[in-house]
Amino acid sequence: MKPEVVVLSRLGPPEVMEALETSYQLHCLWEVSDRQAALKAASSARGLVTTGSLGADPALMDALPELEVISINGVGLDAVDLPAAKARGIAVGYTPGVLTEGVADMAVALILAASRKLVEGDRFVRNGTWASGEKLALGWSIRGKTVGFLGFGRIGREVLRLLAAFGVKALYHEPKALEGVSADYCNDLVTMAEKSDVMVVCCAGGEATRNLVDASVLKALGPKGLLVNIARGSVVCEPDLIATLEAGHLGAAALDVFADEPRVPQALQAMENVVLTPHIASATTETRLAMGRLVVENLAAYFSGKPLLTPAPMDGL
Ligand code: DGY
Repeated sequence: MKPEVVVLSRLGPPEVMEALETSYQLHCLWEVSDRQAALKAASSARGLVTTGSLGADPALMDALPELEVISINGVGLDAVDLPAAKARGIAVGYTPGVLTEGVADMAVALILAASRKLVEGDRFVRNGTWASGEKLALGWSIRGKTVGFLGFGRIGREVLRLLAAFGVKALYHEPKALEGVSADYCNDLVTMAEKSDVMVVCCAGGEATRNLVDASVLKALGPKGLLVNIARGSVVCEPDLIATLEAGHLGAAALDVFADEPRVPQALQAMENVVLTPHIASATTETRLAMGRLVVENLAAYFSGKPLLTPAPMDGL
């Protein structure tokens, strides 16, 4: 008998679902109209596959009383209640490392999209404004500018490695200074924002970072400043972001993540100086294949009695 595994969202490319189907009896929750009934039918499931955004809360764990292992397709752990998993003896795996490059590429794409008005320019062409004789306002160059990183882990460092080609100066904010990194530490986020032309949010989500980027930080980034968020919507206070942009106290924003996905405030959608993408920083075929393989390998390790390849950090919970 194949072990039963609940899958919350279709993982792509197709090889990933094929690999899961080969080894497990799947309960695909995105295909059902009655989630409660589907969970009831899956009550003997021993595995759960989720994403960084969908996570797993205690109610879901309670609905799956035989659950032994959660395999997250993502690096963000904020949506999985790790203490609840630990209390129930559930092993948790995630996919660090394999998405660093894909997410970092997206951060650079967002910086260039906002600074060079790529999306605004595309609309300008398509809606006939260019043809009517108007000129798009000038963009600005990232070359030689200062980039502040809120969070300077694997992803932030890879973004900086890519941006080195543009000769940027780099600052970072973390709870503590890090050893051996090629950026200057700022222990105060507002001070870092004041000194930065661009702030890239690439820290973990969760309670420790909720609304860390508020009006004071955004105003310090300033009327020419650009905020880029490829981390979690929860890190930025969305009402403050909207108010600061509307008042012209912040220059622009490029956002891949939002407070209440997939809902994006109408006010942000209406602004020309805001680039919006639907949480796709890791969404390339290459990255999602690598992530999906790791999801499958973590499950396989668990069900063959071996340690997970990439267990979520559970110590001290
Ligand atoms: C992650 O890795 O957590 C991404 O945000 C995908 O959800």
